[in-house]
Amino acid sequence: MSVINAALIESFDEPPHFRSVPAPEAAPGQEVVDVLAVGVHPATRGIASGKHYTSPTTLPALAGADAVVRRADGSLAYVMMLGLGTLAERIVIDPAAAIPVPDGADPAVLAATMNPALSSWVALRTRVPFQAGQSILVHGATGNAGAMAVKVAKHLGAGRVIAAGRNRTRLDALTAEGADDIVALTHDQDATAAALGEAAANVDVVLDYVWGPPTELAMRAVLGARTRYTRLLDWVQIGGMGGDEITLSGHAMRSNAFRVLGSGFGSVDMPVMLREFTELVAAIAAGGMAVRPRPFPLEKVEAAWSNQDAPGERTVIVL
Ligand SMILES: NC(=O)c1ccc[n+]([C@@H]2O[C@H](COP(=O)([O-])OP(=O)(O)OC[C@H]3O[C@@H](n4cnc5c(N)ncnc54)[C@H](OP(=O)(O)O)[C@@H]3O)[C@@H](O)[C@H]2O)c1
Repeated sequence: MSVINAALIESFDEPPHFRSVPAPEAAPGQEVVDVLAVGVHPATRGIASGKHYTSPTTLPALAGADAVVRRADGSLAYVMMLGLGTLAERIVIDPAAAIPVPDGADPAVLAATMNPALSSWVALRTRVPFQAGQSILVHGATGNAGAMAVKVAKHLGAGRVIAAGRNRTRLDALTAEGADDIVALTHDQDATAAALGEAAANVDVVLDYVWGPPTELAMRAVLGARTRYTRLLDWVQIGGMGGDEITLSGHAMRSNAFRVLGSGFGSVDMPVMLREFTELVAAIAAGGMAVRPRPFPLEKVEAAWSNQDAPGERTVIVL
């Protein structure tokens, strides 16, 4: 039996382990591809720790949620394989779900950038009636997905983008990367609320990577400062860095044209998602939107899992 190297989730309490597994074989209609680069995203870690809504129900299971692969014809492709795993030298894919990657694109950069960038791209293109010229608040803009959201919003024609986050150095850098205004999220709740109200009172969309208590404060601040009550405000839940739950007052829902919705893999049809991924891959490959890859070889998967990404960086397993 031929075997390949892979990273297996054997326990939700440990990082994936470097193991030998049987080489995959394609069923009719499937294709075996070589894996080139796999990003270790918050969702990838969440899946491996049993905390994601696509975490495996039986172990061992292959780690990894997405990958840049080389197809049998030599071309590159990006694949999203939530619930199936990608961290192996070779995997089986559905060719219909392979997103073409332009020649010359760097697999590690694409693997680092796609997941953070798609969060705002998919939200703005499919979940809200966003139009060029509208204004956007990115709540939690100092992580990779939040920083990409600033760039993606500008790329898609946002008129004004306000970046709110904790890390002052990263926030300042975001002004050079397209943010029109920044708001520091600090321990001083009154000052934070005042700054959010002043900068973001009449935004059209909030892309929220934080949630939890900081979002409760931000919602009160923005809704309380709004002067145009019937102007639609779509508050899009994308990430949960500050918690997975909020308390939401009925008064807030009634007193403004205010909608709360989420954007993620369960909220957009796969054909729509694949169409959007194709455009996003092309936009990333064209340059201007990139998260810096921090490469690790597959045999160092445990070290990769314990690596803390620096701002603007993403751990990527390069095969
Ligand atoms: N729904 C989707 O389609 C989708 C896609 C991709 C990612 N996501 C989610 O988006 C979130 C961020 O992902 P990422 O790739 O950006 O991760 P990341 O690069 O690790 O960044 C996370 C950032 O969150 C910030 N943060 C943590 N707690 C915070 C708080 N209480 N208030 C404000 N900021 C806080 C931290 O920035 P500072 O330390 O600088 O404050 C940290 O750098 C994750 O929950 C991820 O699962 C969702």
